[in-house]
Amino acid sequence: MDEPSARERDSGDAAERDPQDARAHVIATRGLTKRYRGGQLAVDGLDLTVPAGSVFGFLGPNGSGKTTTIRMLMGLIEPTSGTARVLGRPMPRATRAVLPQVGALIEGPALYGFLSGRDNLLRYDAADPTADPRTRRARVAAALDRVGLAAAAGKKARAYSLGMKQRLGLAAALLQPRRLLVLDEPTNGLDPQGMREIRALIRELASDGTTVFLSSHLLDEIEQVCTHAAVMTQGRLVTQGAVADLAAGARGRLAVTTPDPGEAARVLKEQGVGDVTVDGDRVTGEPPAQDLAEVNAALVAAGVRVRGFTLEQASLEDAFVALTGEGFDVAG
Ligand SMILES: Nc1ncnc2c1ncn2[C@@H]1O[C@H](COP(=O)(O)OP(=O)(O)O)[C@@H](O)[C@H]1O
Ligand SMILES: [Mg+2]
Repeated sequence: MDEPSARERDSGDAAERDPQDARAHVIATRGLTKRYRGGQLAVDGLDLTVPAGSVFGFLGPNGSGKTTTIRMLMGLIEPTSGTARVLGRPMPRATRAVLPQVGALIEGPALYGFLSGRDNLLRYDAADPTADPRTRRARVAAALDRVGLAAAAGKKARAYSLGMKQRLGLAAALLQPRRLLVLDEPTNGLDPQGMREIRALIRELASDGTTVFLSSHLLDEIEQVCTHAAVMTQGRLVTQGAVADLAAGARGRLAVTTPDPGEAARVLKEQGVGDVTVDGDRVTGEPPAQDLAEVNAALVAAGVRVRGFTLEQASLEDAFVALTGEGFDVAG
């Protein structure tokens, strides 16, 4: 049933010629581009590769094109150019075959305010022709329980907080076992405790073998929960790969602890250290090309009293800043 039809196989794409490869990648796009009618280039030539079994973070500041990409992946809008394959099938052409295998939470889930959370899910499930009506009540109860909404299940959805609505949207994505979950900013509107719960849930779902693709503008969230990530800025993909490799690709910062920060900063600049920043007794900067032993010796020779001299490990944030030359809009 998963075999692509002859019509879908006929293009020259390498992944299409090698079905094994296409299957290993749960999502694969080539040159995916969306220009909105107003002229806004929201997604620009995206080549995205999401390995099976990964928790894949789609990271980028607000307005960088994440939701637009997800809408194209789910067959909700047509790309202007380029191709997208989900579970090995071309989108939007194979939307009907693909969507039943995908649980999706996309920006602002549509809810009926006059129905309870439980009744919203019952109705949603009833609209899914692949859902078994005999198990509906039990599946709805289990999904509500999984997202921590069991106690509030009888409350009208219009009385739900933003975080509760978000949880209800997530519950809708969990009504059936899925091969892929696509979650657009799943922790939006949640407090820190709620965010931790959703992160734990995502890890649990991933450990069952489900591939999870989630977007976020929160860097530390991606770093905490994801095995792989792609970084977007202004509609373009900056980098993608295993989170550990992305962080390792960036150089860490040199950090000197000293009671003589002013003098230390002067010497470090002289030694070619870039972006020197003083914060109390800590002076940090981008390490220069030369041997750090020489930098340390220069500090000592200038009479700087060095208490600490370390190369701090790079984080995903360092990688992002190094790649884009921009800071990250954390508050969003
Ligand atoms: N329906 C639309 N019509 C025109 N422009 C849009 C539309 N939706 C989004 N945009 C624009 O496309 C860009 C990317 O938006 P979006 O995909 O929502 O980014 P993100 O989800 O990363 O915040 C933004 O500049 C946004 O203003
Ligand atoms: Mg968005």
